[in-house]
Amino acid sequence: MTAGKRVLVVGGTNFDVIAQADRLPVEHEKLRGEACSVAPGGAGANTAAGLAREGCSVRLVSAVGDDAAGVMCLEALRGCGVDTSLVRMEAGSRTSTAVVLSTGGGKRMMTFPGADRGPAFETVTGDDVRGSDHVHVVGEPTPALKRIVDLAHEAGCSVSVEWNGRDMSALAVGAALNFMNADEAARLPRAVPFDTATTARRYAALVSGDVIVTMGPEGALWATAGGKVLHEPTRQVDPVDRTGGGDAFDAGVIAGRLNGDPPKVCMRRGLDAALHVLGRIGAHP
Ligand SMILES: Nc1ncnc2c1ncn2[C@@H]1O[C@H](COP(=O)(O)OP(=O)(O)OP(=O)(O)O)[C@@H](O)[C@H]1O
Ligand SMILES: [Mg+2]
Repeated sequence: MTAGKRVLVVGGTNFDVIAQADRLPVEHEKLRGEACSVAPGGAGANTAAGLAREGCSVRLVSAVGDDAAGVMCLEALRGCGVDTSLVRMEAGSRTSTAVVLSTGGGKRMMTFPGADRGPAFETVTGDDVRGSDHVHVVGEPTPALKRIVDLAHEAGCSVSVEWNGRDMSALAVGAALNFMNADEAARLPRAVPFDTATTARRYAALVSGDVIVTMGPEGALWATAGGKVLHEPTRQVDPVDRTGGGDAFDAGVIAGRLNGDPPKVCMRRGLDAALHVLGRIGAHP
């Protein structure tokens, strides 16, 4: 059962400013947008909230600044049922911010780094990790993040890694689940041009874990460490806002895996979680 499974999520929390219009403005144009919202975001926080929505008991390791945005992010996460006791509020820092210009199917993003997550990652103890069934990490492949992954393996927790456009292969060895989108997969150093399935299979063999690639309206592809490739289509929609779709997908797949579901059912859960997020502005309820 997913309910009650304890997941430690390690990753960023952002304050998202999402402005939505049917197209981007041109030079000197004062385009009237359709909607504008501020919402908590960031890959770590989004997946933590998604896992809580799936019924898991979730603890987030992250950092925010001691500004109004940080307070809002913490309140929203707690409101979703996420345990924020390991989210460090850094005195004198701002909360990392992402400005998203969303045109439904497309998005352009600018990010502004704030509070340093390193100290929050460094204070995670073996006991924090041993109290979890699963550890999900997203971020730079730093020694601080690698240490948490090593603690997770030592404690016998399953591990998942969101690659988010980075080559995480050194850190991801032995991680059961590895997430990326098709554009990110194509940019990896050992990518096979125009062949997502072979690229995914190659990285699955390299890290001895499964690699799951999202392909926008085409659904998702799952390459097992043993060399099998499965595809799961999705219901194509016109997204209201794509922010956080990939993070919701990760949460659905992890919840499925913790429930003992086979890969196709896990992907279905991930794709359905993504559809839920794509239909509204901002990644959080
Ligand atoms: N037009 C669409 N119709 C249906 N599903 C979609 C559509 N676009 C994206 N998705 C789904 O949203 C999820 C994430 O999409 P995508 O492959 O674009 O990842 P991403 O760009 O990494 O997302 P994020 O920026 O949130 O990390 C996937 O589950 C994907 O299938
Ligand atoms: Mg992504």
